[in-house]
Amino acid sequence: MKWNNKSHEFDSIGRFLASVKHVYFYGIGGHLKEIWECIECGREWFSDISFSFVDRNENLQSVGFCGQRIISPRELYEALDKENDRYLVVACPLGKTGDEIRDLLIANGVKEDKIAMGFDFLFTLIPIYFLYKYDKVFFTSQNIVPSSACNLNCRECLNFNPYIKKPVVYSLENVKKDIDVFFNAVDLIWRFQVTGGEPLLYPYFKEVLEYIDDNYRDRIFRLETVTNGTIIPNDEICEFLAKRKIFVFLDDYTLSLQNEHKKIRKDIERKFESFGVRYLNNYVDRWFKIYPGTKKQSEEELMDFFNSCANPYSTIENGKISACNYMLYAEKAGLLEGCKDDYYDLTDYDVSKKKELIEFRLRHNNKGYTSFCNQCAGYYLINENWYYPAIQVEKR
Ligand SMILES: C[S@@+](CC[C@H](N)C(=O)[O-])C[C@H]1O[C@@H](n2cnc3c(N)ncnc32)[C@H](O)[C@@H]1O
Ligand code: SF4
Repeated sequence: MKWNNKSHEFDSIGRFLASVKHVYFYGIGGHLKEIWECIECGREWFSDISFSFVDRNENLQSVGFCGQRIISPRELYEALDKENDRYLVVACPLGKTGDEIRDLLIANGVKEDKIAMGFDFLFTLIPIYFLYKYDKVFFTSQNIVPSSACNLNCRECLNFNPYIKKPVVYSLENVKKDIDVFFNAVDLIWRFQVTGGEPLLYPYFKEVLEYIDDNYRDRIFRLETVTNGTIIPNDEICEFLAKRKIFVFLDDYTLSLQNEHKKIRKDIERKFESFGVRYLNNYVDRWFKIYPGTKKQSEEELMDFFNSCANPYSTIENGKISACNYMLYAEKAGLLEGCKDDYYDLTDYDVSKKKELIEFRLRHNNKGYTSFCNQCAGYYLINENWYYPAIQVEKR
């Protein structure tokens, strides 16, 4: 979105969200699980709100979800009849199912301004809620890339590894500086992720996580890292990850990688189990290709594209957060020349800028799009180019 009322873009929705007393999550499944994890991690901040789960599936109603009771749609509509205006119904599933639930809610008389989509709730509405309810800067996620060096060369890598001529490897001091600058501005965050490149190749991998954990852990709901599952971390690292409760996305690229990698990956799993590392077995059967995309014909088209893309991820680097993480990676890989409007500089941040910072993080900026949008095929929600994950290509 192009800024047109900086620091006031969310005033109206913010006032409403700060007044909400009951949230109904409609549609049980993976996306609700993610939303619920975030809420559970920050329970004290949501203590003014009651939450209910809704699903039409009677089997699900009889077993519940995440330890919560599930009510039927009929019970939802009866409950809404008795609500004043301080409620929100969230259509949780992504894609078509979410849209169908939204249409059903409208057909049953729920007002459109009382309905939110699950993805927006998690990535947009929760940060606005924190800002207007508590005057706190809350980000749903942020990542940091200490190094873009990697041992693999995946064709569709979203870090554009095949295009990188020389990886950027930051000093520990530089990374710590970015972490400090970030937490000087951001009060609370659900997911803070140390990524790459391949994080396990970064010489100060442990030191970076240790620094974050020692200094800012009380502000992070979930401290994370990710690995491509081809490097067995040593005992010291495994012990550290377990002790500091650092969550690991253990990617599974065995669909594309050769047999020897299958064994390595199994060994990593076993090792994580034995050390008690908290990890997610991250198997996906497809990846989207983000570059190159079709050229856009006008500013309007670029703005529409950026709005519909909805990529919620951003990276902190050199004191600035990016409007889109992929834009930053594309710039580093030499695919484009970025501009000032693609970044929000946190080095001269002060608390009077809370609202504009949240607005920028929630996809507002001076142009209404980024320097990458004209070459990009978009985040997976709007992307139609799918391939097997981690197909390897020759290094340049
Ligand atoms: C760029 S990788 C860096 C971390 C590490 N090297 C790895 O591959 O797990 C960060 C995350 O992006 C995912 N990823 C990379 N390219 C992707 C694509 N084209 N589509 C979907 N996910 C992708 C990876 O699976 C990983 O979970
Ligand atoms: S997606 Fe592949 S090439 Fe890219 S950083 Fe991860 S392992 Fe390396």
